[in-house]
Amino acid sequence: MLSGGYKPCAMHGFSYKNGALHCENVELSALAADYGTPLYVYSGGTILDHFTRLDAALAGVDHELAFAVKANSNLSVLRLLVTQGAGFDIVSAGELFRVIKAGGDPAHCTFAGVGKTRAEIVYALEQGIYSFNVESEEELRYLNQVAGELEMVAPAAVRVNPNVDAKTHKYISTGKSENKFGVDFEKIEDLYARAAAELPHIRLRGVQMHIGSQLTSVAPFIEAVERVRPLVMRLKQRHGIEFWSIGGGIGIVYQGSLESGDPAWWQGCLPEDLPLTIAQYGAELVPRLKDLGLRILVEPGRYIVGNAGVLLTRCLYEKKGAAKTFKIVDAGMNDLIRPALYEGHHEIVPLQQPVTDATVAVDVVGPICESGDFFCQNRELPDFQPGEVVALMSAGAYGFTMASNYNSRPMPAEVLVEGDTTTLVRKRQTLEDLIAGEL
Ligand code: LLP
Repeated sequence: MLSGGYKPCAMHGFSYKNGALHCENVELSALAADYGTPLYVYSGGTILDHFTRLDAALAGVDHELAFAVKANSNLSVLRLLVTQGAGFDIVSAGELFRVIKAGGDPAHCTFAGVGKTRAEIVYALEQGIYSFNVESEEELRYLNQVAGELEMVAPAAVRVNPNVDAKTHKYISTGKSENKFGVDFEKIEDLYARAAAELPHIRLRGVQMHIGSQLTSVAPFIEAVERVRPLVMRLKQRHGIEFWSIGGGIGIVYQGSLESGDPAWWQGCLPEDLPLTIAQYGAELVPRLKDLGLRILVEPGRYIVGNAGVLLTRCLYEKKGAAKTFKIVDAGMNDLIRPALYEGHHEIVPLQQPVTDATVAVDVVGPICESGDFFCQNRELPDFQPGEVVALMSAGAYGFTMASNYNSRPMPAEVLVEGDTTTLVRKRQTLEDLIAGEL
């Protein structure tokens, strides 16, 4: 058994077959050979499976899943979700542009974010988005002004900050009063009343909240829904709002310290003895949301794509220092920044299944000139060698979308696997791409 008890299960997305790690029916080492490394690989089947599971868990309530595009904005991933009837939660004109290019309908897009520019507001108004999810009174007034100048009415929801502790990493916790997001719970009703009286180019269409990301317990979701529900009902009565977006945030399992082969991991849910399963999420929330006469929006990002993607990287060197052994790989923090930024854990799995249980304690590090450029520290891993390719697991969400050209490194390629079929869905950048646009 590998470190941490990790063993990919046979049923979903990524698994060893005849000793070789596969994505669906495609051998990952063949992809590394064909497309080079670092390489993002996504399992289309896993994405669809997660979408369907969440959709089914919420079947008891009038709902729409608005995929949080920031988690993975590759056009082919978006296109897959368009075929499932997904809506989209966007945070920039760029994300709206991508959704439209992927065949998505702006009328099923909500636009979040604390700092929308005039150009973004104009673009989204012209495209006819479903709702601007507004984060401050100042923004609401500005939205009214811009819509007025265009002789339009902007559909809007205000994001309520419910002041609930999501108990997640401090950088991805958003629902506390000290976070920059949303409008204080206590101020919302006055704001809706003033908007209704004073802002003729705003149509108050809904209310929104999002308490944080990578939640691993259902309790904060329940707390936020219970806290905000009476407010939402009053807003419905007074202003005829039609939707309530409860945000995203459903956590996934990153660490394979579960019983080996547990399919729950690949389904993006924690096993029954852990605090959050997707069935539980539905079972707890549906009864609390179903009879409100409101359309419930959910904005999942990580849950849909997180465990559906891996980053393949080749080991370049092994460096034995006085204190540590470093496995130096060809991916860096510019390709996957989660370990550096959030101390994120990604399992590291050889493409060839190890024949023994033997492990060595290593740091797996990238080539970037930063001490924070590591994928793990002091972790017991199979003793993979220079030349070998390993997979950084659960890299489908906030992986490529947070990649950069730091150290003038071209961005990696992305590949989508569906059954036996492999599609290159983004070319690796070239050196020329690095300087395109510079004068
Ligand atoms: N809705 C809103 C308003 C959000 O701000 C977010 C994420 C989501 C939905 C989707 O949340 P999810 O279901 O994916 O948890 N880069 C970080 C995560 C940042 C999340 C930002 N907002 C990471 O890699 O962990």
